[in-house]
Order: sequence, then structure tokens, then C-alpha cells
Amino acid sequence: MTTTLVPEPKTTTPTSSPQPAGSQPGSEPAERIPAGRGEGDQQVHQPDRSGPPALLVEHVSKRFKVDRRKPPVIAIDDVSLRLERGAIHGILGSNGSGKSTLVRLISGLLTLDAGRVEVFGHDIERDEMAVKRLINRVSVDAAFFKKLSPMENLLFAARLYGIDAKRARREVTEILGRLGIAENRLGRPVEQMSRGMQQKVEIARALLTSPTLLLLDEPTTGLDPRSKLDVQAFIEEVNRTHDATIVLTTHDLAEAERFCSRITILNGGRVVAEDSPEELKRLVADTHAQEPTLEAVFMTFTGRSLDEDVEEEGPEPD
Ligand SMILES: Nc1ncnc2c1ncn2[C@@H]1O[C@H](COP(=O)(O)OP(=O)(O)OP(=O)(O)O)[C@@H](O)[C@H]1O
Ligand SMILES: [Mg+2]
Repeated sequence: MTTTLVPEPKTTTPTSSPQPAGSQPGSEPAERIPAGRGEGDQQVHQPDRSGPPALLVEHVSKRFKVDRRKPPVIAIDDVSLRLERGAIHGILGSNGSGKSTLVRLISGLLTLDAGRVEVFGHDIERDEMAVKRLINRVSVDAAFFKKLSPMENLLFAARLYGIDAKRARREVTEILGRLGIAENRLGRPVEQMSRGMQQKVEIARALLTSPTLLLLDEPTTGLDPRSKLDVQAFIEEVNRTHDATIVLTTHDLAEAERFCSRITILNGGRVVAEDSPEELKRLVADTHAQEPTLEAVFMTFTGRSLDEDVEEEGPEPD
């Protein structure tokens, strides 16, 4: 299965982007993803401020008590966030800064110690079911039935969400196809898939339910350069054409800069900065002027997706 994505060298120079995020006059959400972008060309989906915010996090805190003799770990400390519908909002921070904990709190996997969270005006504690239908989370710790195939896993998820099996089967094939996983891979046990492929299956599972708020916890970490581009293109497309609002945690600053209209930086569970990438860059001296030289080498020498290589190893049992 070939992907439609055109390899694109990252040429963003962090200091040369005078245009604020989403500042194109009267820009509407694009119908299709452009194949490539010019330097400093911001194409962030315009957030919609007419309804309730897609996500409202107010003074949220979370501590973990691991040892009775020691003080608790304060993982999230009085964090507030507001995302308008259609935004892609980045959460950056070093290991242990609280990104995943925040995502788990928003998705209802952890209970709040303090504060409140609303998703499209629904309180996540009082209106749990409504929120569950609006939200989906993708993380590196994906839970699958490893002996079952991607299709079986995804059909199971579809059933939980009350999605018709026929429709689910069609959509799973379509989504995974566009992520570079061919139909003949869908019948094999998940445990035989590489981590990157499993990540794509996880993304497909999240998208199957057409979430309006998508929580992506390091969706591209550990992916090969081609798979990363596939997933990034998909994130962008889901944002643009399916009107999904996205929270994106990442350690890839170029990724955050490219996709996020706003970025929150966590440190020790606290918000230490929040602004558009351009404004954040103005605040600090940039030390991240990297050119993706290894990625360019990878693209030049492979010129195709790793999935295609794996798929060509031999015929697949159905
Ligand atoms: N279930 C838990 N029990 C105890 N402590 C936890 C738990 N989950 C997270 N923590 C602690 O909370 C803090 C924040 O962790 P978290 O996983 O949210 O960080 P992170 O920013 O996602 O890090 P990374 O970049 O490594 O993914 C860390 O000190 C971590 O050890
Ligand atoms: Mg994490």
C-alpha cells in the first residue's frame, strides 16, 4: 500500500517566521492537505471560538502517593488550559514533567485531586459518558489483545462504541491503508507487528470513533522517519477535514512548531510557558536550529515506506 504523502524536507528555521500562527486573512479549513509547505508557512487550522471550548482545564492538580514515608509526587500542579474547537495544542516538557498524567486526567483514566475539566462544555466527572464519546487517547502504552489481529481488535473497539461492524471494517481498512498498512496485514496477530505498526493501529482505533477531541501522547515517538510523516500527515488531516481538536504531547520540537497553534510547556507539573510557537521563540534564545540531515539521508536512500518493505517479504495468510 503506498501512501499519498510526499516526503518533505523540514526547512523551518525557527528564527525566520515573522507570521503569527493562523494569521492568513479569512483562511478556512482546507479541504485537502497541501503536499508540501514553504519555509515558515503556517497552515494551522483556525480555531473556532463560537461554541464552548473544546477543552477547558481549570486549576487541575494530581499527586501520587507511592511511599507512605515519603512526600507524594506532585505530578500536576494547578494546571489550566483552554483549547478552542479545531486547535492543535502542544504540550511540551522533559521526561516526568507531567504530560502523560495530564492527558490521563483529561481522558478520565485518572481522577482529579483538584480542579475541573470540561470537554465541549461537559464536565468529565459529572457527565462521564458524554465525554467518553467525544474524546479519544492515543499513547505509546497501547493496550491490545496481542493474539488477535488489528482488524479483530478494532472491530472489538467499534462494538464497544456501538459502531456497525460493516462500517467499522470498511473504515479500519481505509484508515490503516492511508497510514501505510495494507489490507493483507490486517489479519495477523498484533504481537507480530512492529511497534510503529502497532502505533498506527492505535491511531486507527482512536479515529474509528471519530473523536472530536483527540489526545495524542507522543504519537510519533519511536517511529521511523517515513512512518512519522505518515502519522503527522494523518494528524493534520484529521484536524482539518474531520474537525478534530487535538492535544499533542511530543519531544519533537519541530513537530510541535509545525502543527501547534499554541504550546504549553510543563515543568515539574506546572505550566511555565504558554503561547504560540512564534511568541515562545521570541521569548527565548533558540537552541534548536536543527536540520533533519539524517532524515534526509533516510529518505534519499529508501524513498519508500518501511511498511512496504516488510509487506513485500512474503505472502500473508488472511
Ligand atoms: N501511576 C503513577 N504512580 C506514581 N507516580 C507516577 C504515576 N504516573 C506518573 N507518576 C509520576 O508523575 C510524574 C509525571 O509523570 P508523567 O508520566 O506524567 O511525565 P511525562 O511528562 O509524561 O514524562 P515522559 O516525557 O517521560 O513521557 C513523574 O514524576 C512520574 O514518576
Ligand atoms: Mg509521557
